[in-house]
Amino acid sequence: MQSSIRQQLLEVFSEADGEFVSGQTISEKLGCSRTAIWKHMEDLRREGYELEAVRRLGYRIAKKPDKVTNNEISLGLQTEVIGRHIHYEETVDSTQKIAARLAFEGAPEGTVVVAEEQTAGRGRLSRIWHSPKGTGVWMSIILRPAIPVQQAPQLTLLAAVSVAQAIEQVTGLSVGIKWPNDILIGGKKAVGILTELQADPDQVNAVIIGIGVNVNQQREHFAEEILPIATSLAIEAGTAFPRASLMQAVFLQLEKLYKEYLTNGFGIIKLLWESYAISIGREITARTVTSTIVGTAKGITEEGVLLLEDRDGRIHAIHSADIEI
Ligand code: BTN
Repeated sequence: MQSSIRQQLLEVFSEADGEFVSGQTISEKLGCSRTAIWKHMEDLRREGYELEAVRRLGYRIAKKPDKVTNNEISLGLQTEVIGRHIHYEETVDSTQKIAARLAFEGAPEGTVVVAEEQTAGRGRLSRIWHSPKGTGVWMSIILRPAIPVQQAPQLTLLAAVSVAQAIEQVTGLSVGIKWPNDILIGGKKAVGILTELQADPDQVNAVIIGIGVNVNQQREHFAEEILPIATSLAIEAGTAFPRASLMQAVFLQLEKLYKEYLTNGFGIIKLLWESYAISIGREITARTVTSTIVGTAKGITEEGVLLLEDRDGRIHAIHSADIEI
């Protein structure tokens, strides 16, 4: 649990938006002595904040550390619900596992579990998700929509659109989505999303959206065999990005789209998803657990199911598969 004085101190700096704040103002706003404030500033410095002090002007934050702790995420966060409860750990096996436990124990909607590193990150179709320390965003978000179970895949597509929008905003890169929710840049995968459910037979209790974004990895971080198919935002843009800022952008986009979804349904989200889709209208190969189907991707249904027309003109509804373009 972090000090609430420290949190308030960060909020004062955040409101100042990079300008100097005098010691007098800080001590009045926080209602504590200058000595107490100085101690908290020293703590922030130890955490990697660069604090600039100028006589007669006061203090300002010159640089935030590239960490994804509660401090960095809360500072300047614009959402009401998503990201308002952060469970941060340096190293975990999988944020999905922790989020599942917290959701089961009643964690509120919008709770986010985030870690600097995952030692057993999980991908779709039982794959491993490499999550090296301090390089990416490895997080799981708990939502509690009152929807029937069969609509849950819609949230996977909604999450993919939110992350795509956030990446475009923060990096200026142009991204595409490969069904259902891989985000590709220049044809290579930069983001994976894994959605898991806690549900009764007819109603969803919690949706846990696991998002892995390769942010600041360099080429040497990737194993030789996945280099042709994987990338990071830093590799594509030629510059590094603050991970906490990217998370804030994802939370804001997700919150906007989630509100739209709860109020008006899937219509607009489907249109947005289609605007990013790179597989629709193209010939693809879908490998399901039981078969491999080659055909043209015709579109998605209202439930987010992929429709594939094979060479004999038969339409297949694909609920879960590995897609090769
Ligand atoms: C995929 O296979 O494309 C989905 C990858 C999802 C990875 C994320 S990282 C955060 C969360 N925790 C996990 O163990 N997996 C998801």
